Amino acid sequence: MSTITRLLVLLLAIGGGMLYKRLNQLWGDLPAPTLDPQQWWGDEEQPKDYDAYLANSSEVVGNRLMYPETTIEALAKQLNRTLRLTPPLEGVAFEYGFNSDYLKELIAYWRDDYLPRWREREVFLWQFNHFTTEIQGLRMHFLNLMVYDENKVGKNHYPVLLLHGWPGSVREFYDLIHMLHQSHLDPNNKYIFNVIVPSLPGYGWSQGTSKPGLGPAQMAVMLRNLMLRLGYDKFFIQGGDWGSVLGSHIATLYPENVLGYHSNMCNNLSPRSQVKGLLAGIWPGLFVPSGFEDFFFPKSRELSYLMEESGYFHLQATKPDTVGAALTDNPVGLAAYILEKFSTWTNASYRSLPDGGLKQRYKLDALFDNVMIYYLTNSITTSQRLYAEAYTKEQRQLQLERVPTFVPTGCARFKGDIMQFLDLQLRDKYKNLIHSTYYQRGGHFAALELPKVLYKDFIEFVKKVERKFNIKSL
Ligand SMILES: *[C@@H]1O[C@H](CO)[C@@H](O)[C@H](O)[C@H]1NC(C)=O
Ligand SMILES: *[C@@H]1O[C@H](CO)[C@@H](O)[C@H](O)[C@H]1NC(C)=O
Ligand SMILES: *[C@@H]1O[C@H](CO)[C@@H](O)[C@H](O)[C@H]1NC(C)=O
Repeated sequence: MSTITRLLVLLLAIGGGMLYKRLNQLWGDLPAPTLDPQQWWGDEEQPKDYDAYLANSSEVVGNRLMYPETTIEALAKQLNRTLRLTPPLEGVAFEYGFNSDYLKELIAYWRDDYLPRWREREVFLWQFNHFTTEIQGLRMHFLNLMVYDENKVGKNHYPVLLLHGWPGSVREFYDLIHMLHQSHLDPNNKYIFNVIVPSLPGYGWSQGTSKPGLGPAQMAVMLRNLMLRLGYDKFFIQGGDWGSVLGSHIATLYPENVLGYHSNMCNNLSPRSQVKGLLAGIWPGLFVPSGFEDFFFPKSRELSYLMEESGYFHLQATKPDTVGAALTDNPVGLAAYILEKFSTWTNASYRSLPDGGLKQRYKLDALFDNVMIYYLTNSITTSQRLYAEAYTKEQRQLQLERVPTFVPTGCARFKGDIMQFLDLQLRDKYKNLIHSTYYQRGGHFAALELPKVLYKDFIEFVKKVERKFNIKSL
């Protein structure tokens, strides 16, 4: 080799090394950040003596709220105003948003059919034990279903944390809770679970913070503190929507506490994963099991869907309080805003149906239970702030999407969901992706829409975790 060639090779090697280092800085794996487990989100200042505060505030109390007749009557009255809704354009169903003709029909149902049965709905909602406790200064609401000793006999017994998202609530999980917790009724079922279902901070009966900065990472800290408070230091997690993000953060930050993380909206938005997703489009057959290509491709469809359907996201990530003002004390607007998502996110083709296909997959009562939770607790604004907190500079700097997660991970994909990720992309972060499934039917709210399918998928995942990892039943 001539001196010149040697020099060239050397320069290339150095250049290549520098490029690799630079790329790695941009998109390599990162270590997990440490978050303050005592960060204070309550009103006023953190108590000076935190231990004394903990000793004082750790009580778990039963929570069975009854809403006075006057509250329900006031709502009925408000729903009985003459609605000055603008009629939909000719021939238009849900393409411009919630169809106002159908909205009128739904409001009449809410007022004249649902509300007169509110006491029954209360009995339904309170069929499980509800509790509250204070975490880092905030009242946190949750369902906690424990398993009696006699029901554990011959069963594998684990705790599972179920995490909802926006615009959902604990209500989404009611059928799934029965299946997980009452499996003693089925002698062939090998599993039984303690089921813990919190309302996310600022959602439903969980208090919203008065301080900026409570993003998904900080919520993960609170949820893990809740589990530790209840005595669960090893548990499974299941979640969709924000519940998926929060579950992933708990698994990433506190792997020692998580037996397995199962999600019906697994995602990885890291730069490396995005590039992989694009490149995979060149030859999809290599990266997608045959028959499921149209979950992911063509990419152009995903892009136009994003343009058509993500306006709410930008709004809530930037001005949650403005849209919150429009929806607060405006039950008609609130129902339209929330239920539109239950139409389109269940199946995008429902946009062309005059009734948004809402009744095809759900009972109206279930949908209105969920709307009632937002209305009665006045939590639409606080729920929307989570989007804004997820995109602050401080939150983005944590770069949790680039921190690998070694906890056993299971991903169930429902075709109608709002986004889909390839195994190739998910493996980038979830180093133990041991379960990956595809469902041709079903959308974003799988727990509410297809509880049995989700249950079976979750159990399959638990079995795989048991087989591959040495985990202990409670
Ligand atoms: C604990 O509770 C007692 C009685 O309710 C109260 O007097 C005391 O100030 C509380 N201490 C803290 C640290 O909150
Ligand atoms: C709604 O208004 C009509 C007409 O005033 C009245 O007859 C009806 O009882 C009202 N319904 C409710 C639920 O307030
Ligand atoms: C969406 O609805 C259409 C029309 O009813 C149906 O053919 C399709 O299978 C549905 N998709 C999903 C994911 O359920």
